[in-house]
Amino acid sequence: MKPAIAFEGRGTSGPPLLLVHGFPLDRALWRAQLDALGGEARVVALDLPGFGATPAESDGRAPTTMEAYAEQVVAVADALGFVRFALAGLSMGGYVALAVARRHPARLAALALVDTRAEADAPEARPGRLKNADRALSEGTAFLADEMLPKLLAPATLSGRPELVAAARAMVERTSAAGAAAALRGMAERPDARPDLGRIAVPTTVVVGAEDSLTPPELARALATAIPDAELVVAPGAGHLTPIEAPDAVTAALRGLLARLP
Ligand code: MLT
Repeated sequence: MKPAIAFEGRGTSGPPLLLVHGFPLDRALWRAQLDALGGEARVVALDLPGFGATPAESDGRAPTTMEAYAEQVVAVADALGFVRFALAGLSMGGYVALAVARRHPARLAALALVDTRAEADAPEARPGRLKNADRALSEGTAFLADEMLPKLLAPATLSGRPELVAAARAMVERTSAAGAAAALRGMAERPDARPDLGRIAVPTTVVVGAEDSLTPPELARALATAIPDAELVVAPGAGHLTPIEAPDAVTAALRGLLARLP
């Protein structure tokens, strides 16, 4: 079954820009960028299947691969009439964006890889993913918020910005158990994307929070080094969720990327 993908957009002219959230989040991650860039681009943020307002496409017992999500992203672009588009993905959204780059290079005009990595999961991390997938199906996704929020946000965000902690928790709680389980299984089997990085032929910006503990700046630096036309932006004070923790820095990075379009 193909779910109807929920999305929201701003702007009626300018370059198309698609925004893909991370795990276990949704399109609300990008609200500041949607609002800020709508006057200069056609910006659309979507909810992958099982996240936000998009229903899960399965019962979560099988993986949804990053390639399958990539096809959903391209289907949204098709529906919107975006022939070539800039694509930004955060963390799992970055894994999806790299899958779009592999499978549909001609559709990409520019790429933003935000708080993400090209490496596959380490073999020792996979059992934990699968255990969490089973746990989500048996008890729901609330435990993911308790386990993940301390890693998703910078220490200063956790202690001093309760509104951002609440916003992040609300996104996690909107994630369906089946959607989370399918994504966890899909992330566990994603390929190492490093061999393909040298073939990315579009302007690319790699963004990372200076205090991102899940995908730290050294991984971002390696990504930016391996992609031929890549720039690196390190956002001070942000953890793994730079679009909400350092919204102006992410907006400026995306604006800068769009300015590099031919
Ligand atoms: C995300 O933010 O999408 C996750 O941290 C990705 C992951 O678990 O690998």
